[in-house]
Amino acid sequence: MEIRVLTLFPDLMDAVVLSSITGRAVNEGLIGYRAVDIRDYAGNRYGKVDDSVYGGGKGMLMMCDPVYDAWQSAVCSFDSESNPITIYMSPKGKVFDQKKAIELSQKENIIFLCGHYEGIDQRVLDVIVDEEISIGDYVLTGGEIAACAVIDATARLVPGVLPGEEAYSDESHMKYALEHPQYTKPALWHGTGVPEVLTSGHHKNIEEWKYLASLYETMIRRPDLFEKMEISQEDLNRLINDYMK
Ligand SMILES: C[S@@+](CC[C@H](N)C(=O)[O-])C[C@H]1O[C@@H](n2cnc3c(N)ncnc32)[C@H](O)[C@@H]1O
Repeated sequence: MEIRVLTLFPDLMDAVVLSSITGRAVNEGLIGYRAVDIRDYAGNRYGKVDDSVYGGGKGMLMMCDPVYDAWQSAVCSFDSESNPITIYMSPKGKVFDQKKAIELSQKENIIFLCGHYEGIDQRVLDVIVDEEISIGDYVLTGGEIAACAVIDATARLVPGVLPGEEAYSDESHMKYALEHPQYTKPALWHGTGVPEVLTSGHHKNIEEWKYLASLYETMIRRPDLFEKMEISQEDLNRLINDYMK
């Protein structure tokens, strides 16, 4: 997978994407990544990329040409010829979730477009953007933090980035269910132990506990997700009679 990010703050993007697990994935060549500075395409010596909004209103809007020219340079910069998908990070977009992360992790080339100020002139969005993604129903100052979240959630699903599929296949949201609680050493902390079954060494019972604990977490914290899960009556009975009692 190759990623390009169109942004006015490439240092901000690099600081996050080139750190930790995503940084290692880039270093090892599992993911191609480059931030493209939209200001490099300002077309004037002041680096001006925004202007006032037609029809009035406070704030400035990013202009078409710098965004379009930066996008064209990104399109031409991919190693493979497959058509990139262009995603505009936007509070008006569809809210990002794990299903979308899985879908994006299978794409070859992705361009993320980050707005700033009041956003971006609609005319260039209409020409270059394939879809809009929001990270939640609130307004950020710019699209960079949102793009970092989407890149992080997506990149860790690319084969080879995490040690194996089992590193994420049981995590929260992979099958609607939230993850079961987890514990590490010491076995006794501030007088509280860990569920006995986890130290029993009995693999089948441990798996059973993890499954029921995951159902319980989802039911209590996210009833909306719990409703979407296909749980047999037998499993519901085990949840109520074995786990919750
Ligand atoms: C201040 S916001 C512009 C908000 C815009 N005027 C509106 O009301 O829809 C500036 C930029 O931040 C990004 N942004 C803001 N909130 C976001 C969110 N919830 N998800 C993704 N991107 C967001 C977008 O790229 C947007 O162009």
